[in-house]
Amino acid sequence: MILAQITDLHLTEPGRPVYGRYDTEAAVTACIRALNRLQPRPDAVLITGDLVHDGTPAQYRNLLRLLDELEIPWYPMVGNHDSRPAFREVLGDRFADLWEGEFIQFTFDLGPLRVIALDTLDEGFHTPAFCDQRLSWLKAELAGAGDRPVILALHQPPFATGLDWLDGGGTGWAEGLRALVAAHDNVRIVLCGHVHRSIDRLWAGTLASVCPSTCYQAWLDLEHQRAGFVMEPPAIRLLVWDGEEIVSHLQPLVEAGPAWEAIAPDVLKRLMDHVARTGVLPKDINSRERGL
Ligand SMILES: [Fe+2]
Repeated sequence: MILAQITDLHLTEPGRPVYGRYDTEAAVTACIRALNRLQPRPDAVLITGDLVHDGTPAQYRNLLRLLDELEIPWYPMVGNHDSRPAFREVLGDRFADLWEGEFIQFTFDLGPLRVIALDTLDEGFHTPAFCDQRLSWLKAELAGAGDRPVILALHQPPFATGLDWLDGGGTGWAEGLRALVAAHDNVRIVLCGHVHRSIDRLWAGTLASVCPSTCYQAWLDLEHQRAGFVMEPPAIRLLVWDGEEIVSHLQPLVEAGPAWEAIAPDVLKRLMDHVARTGVLPKDINSRERGL
């Protein structure tokens, strides 16, 4: 069972680069091609917000046009750059079952896993919100999950990442969330976006993990706290259920050239048979291989 996470697409209208310099449409297209090429195919793709840059219907129409090429079921969440009315106007028919009252939040199952996507958008603000209504909804969803392992997703990380301009108004908004998650030890991982970097922290007794964006990344300037972005590689995250826990793989989307085989397949087979028998992998593969 594999869930792919992509985040912070910041798509614009066709032909208009973000900040006048970054072609997010090309980045989204490259990301979709990479997802379609994956073997094995992920069972679903979760997009953890900032689907578009300015929250306009035209941008959501462009998003839908591009994502129609994705050959894997996908689930869109909202982030601080999104707008619920425009989202509903364009994606409303396709994703009518993703609404929960006024919010765009939903739950779905992937094999034994339950994925809960929480809406933290505070319309008109970059800072997040988690109100009583959303708290009640999440409480009910977590109760409904029973003992199932849960992946919880939200756009803004509920912890301070150390990048002050992206952390915004502190973590007071997430205190109720923290208590709720801490009371459920089946929440195996908390997936976030927003910060455009790979960041992990233990939080509320679980792992909270920020995925890099599919486009530009945030400038890691911990000393001077300058606000900016940088052309570091985009990435996707693959979350693989191994039957007991979630294994998280971060895959940069860069042209890295072809992989090369370090060990010939027939030698590898003998080595793996040897490991299975003895529990050890010889260091000197060439000389030991002759005697295996
Ligand atoms: Fe973003």
